[in-house]
Amino acid sequence: MKKRIFSGIQPSGLLHIGNYLGAIKNWVELQKDYDCIFCVVDYHAITVPQDPKTLTKETLGIANIYLAAGIDPKKSIIFVQSHVPEHTELAWVLNTISKMGELYRMTQFKDKTQGKEQESAGAGLFDYPVLMAADILLYDTEFVPVGEDQRQHVELTRTLARRFNNRFGETFKMPKVLIKEAGAKIKGLDDPEKKMSKSASSANYIALLDKPDIISNKIKKAVTDSGTEIKFDPEGKPAISNLLTIYHLFSGEEIKDIEVKFQGKGYGEFKEGLAEVVIDYLKPFQKKFFELEKNPDFTKKILKQGAGQVRKIASKKMEEVREKIGVLDI
Ligand code: TYM
Repeated sequence: MKKRIFSGIQPSGLLHIGNYLGAIKNWVELQKDYDCIFCVVDYHAITVPQDPKTLTKETLGIANIYLAAGIDPKKSIIFVQSHVPEHTELAWVLNTISKMGELYRMTQFKDKTQGKEQESAGAGLFDYPVLMAADILLYDTEFVPVGEDQRQHVELTRTLARRFNNRFGETFKMPKVLIKEAGAKIKGLDDPEKKMSKSASSANYIALLDKPDIISNKIKKAVTDSGTEIKFDPEGKPAISNLLTIYHLFSGEEIKDIEVKFQGKGYGEFKEGLAEVVIDYLKPFQKKFFELEKNPDFTKKILKQGAGQVRKIASKKMEEVREKIGVLDI
């Protein structure tokens, strides 16, 4: 029996190369050796104000991104969270054992409500990590491959699993976070101190569907460090180190070799090389994506099949949960 992997992405805004390098690229490799389930977490995306038409479009868009990137529906399951109602059902049960203090400590909640009155933040936004815990625990997940920003949520998932198991008897498997160091936290092009983020300005990220000239321009304008040397030194040269990481992950070349390649050359030449690497890598992916976009029924069929497959696992786990907590069976 292969060990199980579960992960997901929110259909909210354009996906960027941080999402790809921190998550999707690793998923494609993991499908060889693991039993993988990849979810489009649409109920997470409605925790912030959203436009219904955009949500529909982006949900299908994320599924197309999974497929275009190389997630193979013959090997892995792809589905949409809201198509499997056990996710929200388990989230409710887990809510009853979650502590307000734990949720207040989640850095993503703090970041997303920064500068705003916390009083007016949505309860869904506050509760979001509990829904994520339900996603993971429904499937006896062994590993959760994500970027660094999700580590705390997976830790909370473990806390909730442990607490439930202690109170009601062994029910949930203890999941482990799987974070690959390179790519775990791709930084913003305009601010190498912070992670690349789809909610930042467009100069901050390279969207997976950006056109070649846009990619070149964004890289050209990316912030650099003082000096001229192309050297990997995250403390002293955070901007260049971030660009080197991106170059390394898209080209497959080792960082040391890239440093040698650009020895004695300036930032301008390095950035031109980087733009070429990123554009060449994304070209076949984008082509596949736009092909898939023309045929929504193909993707919908895969999502329907996927939901059917995972529903069997999820409903069995939910039956066990209901029995453990003592709800009346009729
Ligand atoms: P989301 O949709 O914000 O991000 C999707 C994935 O992209 C990673 N990521 C990054 N990796 C490296 N550098 C960056 N700058 C960067 N920005 C984002 C994230 O770590 C994530 O892996 N709560 C999750 C979605 C979720 C989930 C789950 C994940 C819901 N349920 C169950 C795993 C298991 C989220 O909002 O990810």
